[in-house]
Amino acid sequence: MKIQSLSQYLLQDLTIKNHIIHNRIVLAPMAGLGHIALRQLISEFGGFGLLFTGMCSAKAVPHENPKTSLVFNWRKEELKYLVCQIFGSDPESMAKAAERIEKEGFFGVDLNFGCSVAAICKKGCGAALLKDPELSSKIVKAVRESVSIPLFVKFRTGWDDNPQFAVDMAKRFEDAGADALTFHPRVAPDRRSRPPQWEIIKHVRQAVDIPVFGNGNLFEKNDGIKMIHQTSCQGLSIGRMAVARPWLFAQWTKKFSPGDDIFFTSAMRMTQILLDHYDDHFAVKLFKKFSPYFCANFKFGHQILKNLVRAQTMDDIRSNLDSIFKNNPETLSRPNLNLFM
Ligand SMILES: Cc1cc2nc3c(=O)[nH]c(=O)nc-3n(C[C@H](O)[C@H](O)[C@H](O)COP(=O)(O)O)c2cc1C
Repeated sequence: MKIQSLSQYLLQDLTIKNHIIHNRIVLAPMAGLGHIALRQLISEFGGFGLLFTGMCSAKAVPHENPKTSLVFNWRKEELKYLVCQIFGSDPESMAKAAERIEKEGFFGVDLNFGCSVAAICKKGCGAALLKDPELSSKIVKAVRESVSIPLFVKFRTGWDDNPQFAVDMAKRFEDAGADALTFHPRVAPDRRSRPPQWEIIKHVRQAVDIPVFGNGNLFEKNDGIKMIHQTSCQGLSIGRMAVARPWLFAQWTKKFSPGDDIFFTSAMRMTQILLDHYDDHFAVKLFKKFSPYFCANFKFGHQILKNLVRAQTMDDIRSNLDSIFKNNPETLSRPNLNLFM
């Protein structure tokens, strides 16, 4: 599919179930990174269609207290564009969690069929479910029957290099009642070590009538254009790059042009928002998780990262940021992926 301009393409309306979104670029779910504070920072820049939470345990969700939970929490203002992702291994608990998510007022619920981390797969969750297509269908059906909000499924190629399997699963998810798919074209043992095979996104896209968000290694505007050309996917789902540059959505769709001080001001803003939501200890922990992505923007990012993560408190982090930026660190036009692969 040839497109004239990326922003024009991304700003076209897209119908998901009976809801229309006015922007087709979304934040991918990322545990430990896509928390309430990063989402707030991204929201302050704007320019996206939807944001996804990191995965939440379906078993825990029905009993979670958002006032004390570190992951199942949100700002009221973001619910209208926020999709809550859950992981689990049985239809009943996934359906119960989805009911809570609908009751809280989220835009939608997303089911994780893609996580290949051992601790998750060992419990039969995430990508492990792709080994049992029947059970996968049952889970999607059960959630479909329990809620009427948009139902998303995020999945990957599977466990073998077999594009047909991904196509079959996509149809299965659609038949079971999914309203949209996010597809990450990598096999499970790969994690992020090999490049994603975007051509499989095209096959998945052609196999279903529901919207498909393409995901995997979208770093620059040009990557977005290429993915749309190559796959005709209806939307883009951005993970790590949105952590490195939370203003990316605004840049790609709102003509936002970041000034030289964007790195300093957004890192400082991140420290403040983290403290608004968490105690100092946890805020520092989350800032350290964010740091490799942030530091990937600089020529000597490894060195900057070393200085930054020495901090024990948020005050330390702020004074480290002050002294790092006094030296005007050289930025890179494309982040150094080695820092966050
Ligand atoms: C730290 C980290 C945590 C992630 N957590 C989740 C998750 O909770 N659920 C999920 O479906 N995918 C998760 N992912 C995968 C991303 O959603 C995405 O598929 C992957 O990073 C590839 O997209 P990207 O190249 O734009 O980063 C995670 C990725 C990273 C780097």
